[in-house]
Amino acid sequence: MSTENNKKTPKWKADFPIHKTEAAHVSRREFAKFLGLLSGALAIGNGAIVIKALASPEKELEGEHFVCNANEAPVGEMLQFELEGPKVVPYILICLSEKEWRAYEQKCTHLSCAVRYRHDLGKIECPCHKGYFDPHNGNVLAGPPPRPLPQLEVVNRDGKLYVRAMRKQNPDI
Ligand code: FES
Repeated sequence: MSTENNKKTPKWKADFPIHKTEAAHVSRREFAKFLGLLSGALAIGNGAIVIKALASPEKELEGEHFVCNANEAPVGEMLQFELEGPKVVPYILICLSEKEWRAYEQKCTHLSCAVRYRHDLGKIECPCHKGYFDPHNGNVLAGPPPRPLPQLEVVNRDGKLYVRAMRKQNPDI
């Protein structure tokens, strides 16, 4: 084989005569156009998420759901349970005193860490960023959580504990 043959331009290079430096070169205009398209796509995606959230707000829990027998949730204890709907939601049932129970969604309203009842502190604690909630009503006591914990109403029927959506307060009363 001659050296002349080795130096001959391959056929594919002849078919695509683009130099490496040109291939890697992106003009400012092209880059700005790319950024513009990317920003537009992100804005459309965010808009779609907002529209979807507004169009289908979270459904309120329907009916009553059995959680446990009252004697299985004694004073100071926390019981975890889940309710299935369009998605599975974790809850906690806590017993504040004889015949006084509360149920809250277990996801912290800050960044969704799992909260837990601290009977020794008399608070519901989020261990992630030291958020604290009032176990009587779910209100924020301290830390970064922006909203109270979503609450369910607990109903005691002959020693059996059920949960249901909180009844709306009548503003006229
Ligand atoms: S996730 Fe609960 S305080 Fe941050």
